[in-house]
Amino acid sequence: MSVKLAINVDHIATIREARKIREPDPVTAALIAELAGVNGVTAHLREDKRHIQDRDIRLLRGTVTTKLNLKIAPTSEMLQFATNVQPDMVTLVPENRQEITTEGGLNVAAKAADLAKFIMTLKSNDIAVSVFIEPETEQVKAAKKVGADFVEFNTGKYAVACDLGSIQEVDREISAITDMTVLARKYGLRVFAGHGLNYRNISAIAAIDGIEELNVGHSIVGRSVFVGMEKAVKEMLDLINKA
Ligand code: PXP
Repeated sequence: MSVKLAINVDHIATIREARKIREPDPVTAALIAELAGVNGVTAHLREDKRHIQDRDIRLLRGTVTTKLNLKIAPTSEMLQFATNVQPDMVTLVPENRQEITTEGGLNVAAKAADLAKFIMTLKSNDIAVSVFIEPETEQVKAAKKVGADFVEFNTGKYAVACDLGSIQEVDREISAITDMTVLARKYGLRVFAGHGLNYRNISAIAAIDGIEELNVGHSIVGRSVFVGMEKAVKEMLDLINKA
């Protein structure tokens, strides 16, 4: 199974919001990334709207031709927005106002009853649902229980271990993600992964059997500043395809 790439365009909006003007536009970035070969576009509408704005999601809904994955915290305001905009899928993530970026997976096991209702509403509106979780047995079982269609495993710890050069920790994270991919698929869940993936560390994750799609944002946007969005996407696709 060849692994797909979805681009997270929040980071383009972060640059725009530094000036609170109209450019660079994440919608333009998404279109160029699609032309370069990504299979999906992801954007995280945070409660504080610090990067992606409602307008971005509405325009992306009208322009993305691959797949629009809206990341949101499980709040009633976001549920209303998602059912109104109708992305192809929603990924539920935890949100902490103080964090610079998402810091860990959603504790699905601890909020199972509320999440089950939330997910049922999305699914009854024809929106597929993923939960961003740590690669842990308890969380995979809970994702199944609450009715998610997909899980996205957090590769953040793996990325940090790579940066620190901690081989033992890298191996431990790869084993956890590999084992949990097998378990999730056994339960009929489809598997994505992402967070902190870059041109140096993506190959080992792309090589894990059963992972369908990788969600990458910061590293592609960072490289695009120097080489352009099209080349940055193609270089990442190349690494994934060779893994
Ligand atoms: N997946 C989730 C759930 C995220 O919150 C993020 C960060 O926006 C990503 C993937 C992409 O992470 P990165 O920007 O580090 O590639």
